[in-house]
Amino acid sequence: MVNLRNEILRKPLGLSFDDAELEREKEDILIGAFEDDRILGCCLLTRMDANSVRLRQMAVPGSMQGKGVGRALMIFAENIARDLGYRKLCMHARKTAVGFYQKLGYSVSGSEFEEVTIPHYVMEKSL
Ligand SMILES: CC(C)(COP(=O)(O)OP(=O)(O)OC[C@H]1O[C@@H](n2cnc3c(N)ncnc32)[C@H](O)[C@@H]1OP(=O)(O)O)[C@@H](O)C(=O)NCCC(=O)NCCS
Repeated sequence: MVNLRNEILRKPLGLSFDDAELEREKEDILIGAFEDDRILGCCLLTRMDANSVRLRQMAVPGSMQGKGVGRALMIFAENIARDLGYRKLCMHARKTAVGFYQKLGYSVSGSEFEEVTIPHYVMEKSL
C-alpha cells in the first residue's frame, strides 16, 4: 500500500513518506482493494472527532484508473465509517480529483489551498 501511494501520490510531486508520518497511521483504518496478491487501490480513514472522519491517501494504479475501483473503495470506506457511527466524511481533495468526489455526492467547502505543493479543496458529505 505504501509503495502504491508513493508511486501515485508522492513520486510525481518529487516527494516521499517519512517514518514519522507512517507511524502516525497506526491509529488509522487502512483500506485496500486486492485481486489475489495484487493491490488495485487504497485509501485510509483518520478520526477527526466523534462525528467526523477524514479520508486520505486515495490511490488507484494508472493502469486500473477509470474502471470503478475508486468508486468501490469510496463506498466501502463510507460503509465502514457509518458502521463506526461517524456522521460526516471529509477529505482534502486534489483539484484534479474534485470531479471524482462530486460524482460520489461530496461538495466543496471553502476556498482552494495548497498541500503537498498542489491545489486542494476541502470536500465533505453527510453519511
Ligand atoms: C482519483 C482516483 C482515486 C479515482 O479512482 P478511479 O478508480 O480512477 O475512479 P472510478 O473509475 O471509480 O470513477 C468513478 C467516476 O468518477 C469519474 N472520475 C474518475 N476520476 C476522475 C477525475 N479525476 N475527475 C473527474 N471525474 C473522475 C469516472 O469517470 C467515473 O464516472 P462515471 O461513474 O460517470 O463513469 C484515481 O484516478 C487516482 O488514483 N488518481 C490519481 C491519484 C489521486 O488523484 N488521488 C486522489 C487524491 S485526493
